[in-house]
Amino acid sequence: MNRREFLAGTAALALAPRISFAETKKLRLAPARQSLVGEANPATEVWAYNGTVPGPELRFKQGERLVIPVENALSVDTTVHWHGIRLPNAMDGVPHLTQAPIAANGGRFLYEFDLPDAGTYWYHPHLGSPEQVGRGLYGALIVEERDPPAVDRDLVWVLSDWRLDRQARNLEDFRNFMDSSHAGRIGNTVTVNGAILETFAVRAGERIRLRLINASNARIYGLSFEGHQPWIVALDGQPVAPHWDGRVVLGPAMRADVILDCAAAPGSRHRIIDDFYARRAYRLLNIEYASDKPLREAFEPAPRLAANRIPQADLDKAARHRIVFGGGMMGAMPSQREHRGLFWTVNGKPVPEGDHAHPPLLNLGKGKPYLIELVNDTSWHHPIHLHGHVFRVLTRNGRPVMPEQLGDTVLLDPDSRAEIAFVADNPGDWMLHCHVLEHQATGMMAVVRVA
Ligand code: C2O
Ligand code: CU
Repeated sequence: MNRREFLAGTAALALAPRISFAETKKLRLAPARQSLVGEANPATEVWAYNGTVPGPELRFKQGERLVIPVENALSVDTTVHWHGIRLPNAMDGVPHLTQAPIAANGGRFLYEFDLPDAGTYWYHPHLGSPEQVGRGLYGALIVEERDPPAVDRDLVWVLSDWRLDRQARNLEDFRNFMDSSHAGRIGNTVTVNGAILETFAVRAGERIRLRLINASNARIYGLSFEGHQPWIVALDGQPVAPHWDGRVVLGPAMRADVILDCAAAPGSRHRIIDDFYARRAYRLLNIEYASDKPLREAFEPAPRLAANRIPQADLDKAARHRIVFGGGMMGAMPSQREHRGLFWTVNGKPVPEGDHAHPPLLNLGKGKPYLIELVNDTSWHHPIHLHGHVFRVLTRNGRPVMPEQLGDTVLLDPDSRAEIAFVADNPGDWMLHCHVLEHQATGMMAVVRVA
């Protein structure tokens, strides 16, 4: 099914009633209904933080302390993981590993930690993720620089991907064999901030900071901006020398901060295209220029954001490890007799989601530098995420990554490898897993211990 098929009769979208964070000062999880594909279609049943998908956009200043009580009114247990934040292990939101689950039907948990790094982050459950994220549980966590670059607008686009039927119902085929053993649950409808966005209205001469977050279970995006040359200024929240390669590729969980200079003519219209899956390219939305005269005539080059204080790994002293991701269809899938429902492996072993006692894959010394080669021995893409740390991506597909890039998630292409380096400075047990949530839940995860 094509997302366009839903659009007949779509007019301006009304938003679901919002219970804002500012009002409640907490996150409350509950079922809700939301119009994803326009008023001409029925609303979709979702699970939401404070009544909307995405959940409230949480904004803090760098160095501030996040204090958020969470109340779970769903009928399933949950946790909240603060993706990309270097926080104390006990606040990381991994069930059984760092905390007890927040119980169904009224369980509570207080998250409280400092925000050391500016950047674009997000939050989502870490329990039953294929279903919980697939039903709409995620939101943006923005940590603003103390001295942010001057822009006319600072906007967040949470990209998500749904598998809807013709009544706009979210299909409940979570964790099916096909998705889990192949590319994960890729849907048929892409939303921006919880609705199909037809047009994005801009004014000529505007400079816009767009914070793109891929909150999809499995879909990878490759976005290009017709008629524009945006600057990528941060990846996974971490500043990068401003540059543009023609498109920005975001695997699940990855983020990009882009400076979009609206240098085209008043009254003009341009498409944002997603062509990551080349044969399934589509128009995400149109950038529509108002007819007003330009706000400014020319643009300075995009400024470089101030780096966060991430410790630099000394590569000469770094201990080396190699982690091989295997399995999946057309690969060395674990025997289903021995490992029913597990399709993926890390260093040859599938780790069941509910296995809380498995020994750490790696034992790292606190404060020591590491260089880890991540090998994708499968026919599928895997965005590999490490908790609690920010790493440098040294190489991908055998080539040095330029300009220098930091992040918490690295996209491994099929049959490829990447090298990452970091200082293991955050003590605790940390997850290392694929962020295609159906892969994570069917074997592709491990624990790294820093002690
Ligand atoms: Cu975004 Cu282990 O998670
Ligand atoms: Cu994967």
